[in-house]
Amino acid sequence: MNNEQIPADEAVPFAGLEALDLPKHVKYHRGKVRDLIPLDHTLLITCSDRVSAFDRVLDVVPDKGELLSRLSSFWFRQTADIIENHLVREVTGRTVLVRHCTPLPVEVVVRGYLSGSAWRDYQAGRPVSGVVLPSGLRMNDRLPEPILTPSTKEQQGGHDRPIGRDELLAAGLVAPQIWEQVERAALSLFERGSAHAAGAGLILVDTKYEFGLLDERLVLIDELHTPDSSRYWYADTYEQLLYAGERQRMLDKEYLRQWLMEHGFRGDGKAPPIPPEIITELSSRYRTAFERLTGTEFRPKATSSEAERTAILSLLDEGV
Ligand SMILES: Nc1ncnc2c1ncn2[C@@H]1O[C@H](COP(=O)(O)OP(=O)(O)O)[C@@H](O)[C@H]1O
Ligand SMILES: [Mg+2]
Repeated sequence: MNNEQIPADEAVPFAGLEALDLPKHVKYHRGKVRDLIPLDHTLLITCSDRVSAFDRVLDVVPDKGELLSRLSSFWFRQTADIIENHLVREVTGRTVLVRHCTPLPVEVVVRGYLSGSAWRDYQAGRPVSGVVLPSGLRMNDRLPEPILTPSTKEQQGGHDRPIGRDELLAAGLVAPQIWEQVERAALSLFERGSAHAAGAGLILVDTKYEFGLLDERLVLIDELHTPDSSRYWYADTYEQLLYAGERQRMLDKEYLRQWLMEHGFRGDGKAPPIPPEIITELSSRYRTAFERLTGTEFRPKATSSEAERTAILSLLDEGV
């Protein structure tokens, strides 16, 4: 059977955008997950379907880019009263126009629960990013109050390193008066995010924020409360699983990290190939997170990589 005989609804579905692959004359930067085109005072950010874990790009998860881009924009609108953010407008399902800021060289992690790498540190007797926690906590316990655990933002290929508040101020990475604003904004954002997630039957476990400066003003940049930058658990089974000492039902990338660790990969050496059923499951978890948090059904706008490329090139031609 040749292509013309395949009815439209049986045509091969969009397998995902791996990279924009723009023509040579367009200058752009490829992050782990997003492709960025710097313009005069703005940036076009395209969320690809690449999935990274332990700071390595490992595969492509269909719809992931669009799900996360639209979820991020949702959250930026939800929190605009807390802090100014970079979003100017959404240009396609997975591409946004944002204000070009100077990123602070730290990732601002807020944790409400003891899990993931924080649990791994705690269990090994190490302080969690300079914070000494009370003894006797269980895996996935709720912390007495959310804690801020910043880490350095390393260049591609490097692993981010936890850094305490005093060290980051002493190193002059961020000015003290800016850092004060960062802490206040991050904790308010986390509170708002947790309350909204609770309304959707989810727990916002922890998350990572990035901030930038624009004319000396502090601006929230990057992505916000997505299942790539945050951990989400189902609220209804939380306590039962906590007491049983079992894994939480989760909607985020820790699912992939755990699969990788069970297969002997922690970020160094060659990664094992990820089976298709794990990829499908990840895609469906991202979708559930989107639908619960936004309260709307996900109907993908993206059709093909070519369509995304064309949309972006015509936008550049018009002069955004
Ligand atoms: N408004 C903005 N201004 C400048 N840089 C930004 C802005 N928003 C996001 N970024 C940067 O764009 C990059 C996003 O791409 P990503 O794939 O997450 O890359 P990375 O591999 O650095 O995590 C990040 O380095 C982030 O700091
Ligand atoms: Mg990133």
